[in-house]
Amino acid sequence: MRRADQVISSDTKAGGDECGGVGILGISWAFGGMIFILVYCTAGISGGHINPAVTFGLFLARKVSLVRAVLYMVAQCLGAICGVGFVKAFQSAYYVRYGGGANSLADGYSTGTGLAAEIIGTFVLVYTVFSATDPKRNARDSHVPVLAPLPIGFAVFMVHLATIPITGTGINPARSFGAAVIYNESKPWDDHWIFWVGPFIGAAIAAFYHQFVLRASGSKSLGSFRSAANV
Ligand SMILES: *[C@@H]1O[C@H](CO)[C@@H](O)[C@H](O)[C@H]1NC(C)=O
Repeated sequence: MRRADQVISSDTKAGGDECGGVGILGISWAFGGMIFILVYCTAGISGGHINPAVTFGLFLARKVSLVRAVLYMVAQCLGAICGVGFVKAFQSAYYVRYGGGANSLADGYSTGTGLAAEIIGTFVLVYTVFSATDPKRNARDSHVPVLAPLPIGFAVFMVHLATIPITGTGINPARSFGAAVIYNESKPWDDHWIFWVGPFIGAAIAAFYHQFVLRASGSKSLGSFRSAANV
């Protein structure tokens, strides 16, 4: 079994040699910085929904309706397919060299470890989303302006640093799906369920933790779940 630091050093070396010294740190900055920009730009339009796991968490917290959540997820997956298609069309050499950016479990890690990495990583991301967009927090700390996309982008950055060596870092099922569809090889498709199940579990834990453990509104939400079940 390869040890984690061996995987990191070999991956960093590969990325560093072939990508102008970029490596894991550069990839993590690219994801985190881009998420910061995308959330910053789309927050006022659609609420910054570019990740099915985040949308699922906000749906569980009753901040997005079911119909809207499903339509967002379809749009997110279509957008991801288009994005990876553009990369393949315009940067085909890098695309082939880096396996189409498709997520799969790295050698030496068990399925359970990969699933746990996706659960924990998505928990960190979705918990940060709840924390950064909490209206009560904004009201309480109004003297400290919160630029929500910044902590969200940083959460994405940190999670990439931690989990790129294990799964290539999904934490966004649409991103994993788009890469798998365009790359269309058996290994990413075999592992693909991890990148839906893991993020959705992580998002659910974050939603329930924030709504029911941290927030007084939890009992109210629970009540509406109960009454919905009774209808
Ligand atoms: C993906 O690969 C499978 C099997 O190799 C093939 O049957 C299928 O047509 C491919 N799909 C696309 C969209 O290329």
